[in-house]
Amino acid sequence: MMLPAEAAELLFGRLAACLGPSALDIGSGSGFLAAEIAARGVRFELTDVEDWRQVSIPGSTFTVASATALPHASGSVGGVHIARVLFHIAEWRTALAEIARVLAPGGRLCLSLGWPLYTGALRELSNAFYDRASEAGLPRDDVRADISGPDQIAASLTDLGLIAEDPIEVSGSLMITPREVIADCVAVADRWRPGQDRGSLPSLGDDVLASSGLPADTPVPQPRTIRYLIFRHP
Ligand SMILES: C[S@@+](CC[C@H](N)C(=O)[O-])C[C@H]1O[C@@H](n2cnc3c(N)ncnc32)[C@H](O)[C@@H]1O
Repeated sequence: MMLPAEAAELLFGRLAACLGPSALDIGSGSGFLAAEIAARGVRFELTDVEDWRQVSIPGSTFTVASATALPHASGSVGGVHIARVLFHIAEWRTALAEIARVLAPGGRLCLSLGWPLYTGALRELSNAFYDRASEAGLPRDDVRADISGPDQIAASLTDLGLIAEDPIEVSGSLMITPREVIADCVAVADRWRPGQDRGSLPSLGDDVLASSGLPADTPVPQPRTIRYLIFRHP
């Protein structure tokens, strides 16, 4: 769960309203996020450089494509959703130019650079897990892009001729146990480099959880804020 139910409803409902009836999801990964928005009325074309899909989204299609070379005609896409992807793309300026190119007049872009999943002891736990996995030869997908933050992205989008609208920001607090953190780290495929055998992750997760000293099933409050930039094609 990304947010408490009421906050999630607000976030995904607002994103669906911004994107319109059909939209492109760039770097869709597992598809969990697109599935939530699709359930609120958006028919998605999912794209990614790898097929990491872990959920089926009725009515959606999937195409292997890089954000830096979208196989779409200019002005042909009603809306674009891209979340937690740009930091993974060294040529992020090319990706933004591609988004501006494919958006139809009046179409909207909903872009999030990402959000911290955990704070405090749970953040240390997830970092310890990823460190152990890396030592065991299973590195996470590297963050490569030289991006200073959302303001730089917003300035680039404005330079590309897109028009800024009010951002979407939704906050909430979840109760999450250490065991749930490890289960999430193990389960979500798109956090890892492609082509790795992730079969050893569950036992690595058990080891890290046991050695953390945290009570595995005691929920810990976790504040979360999810923020999207919204831009419109003129
Ligand atoms: C952290 S995951 C985010 C997945 C999903 N958007 C979400 O928020 O749950 C980053 C995704 O970006 C994808 N990606 C990396 N480079 C890409 C590129 N050049 N074009 C499209 N997707 C890319 C990865 O394959 C991965 O699925």
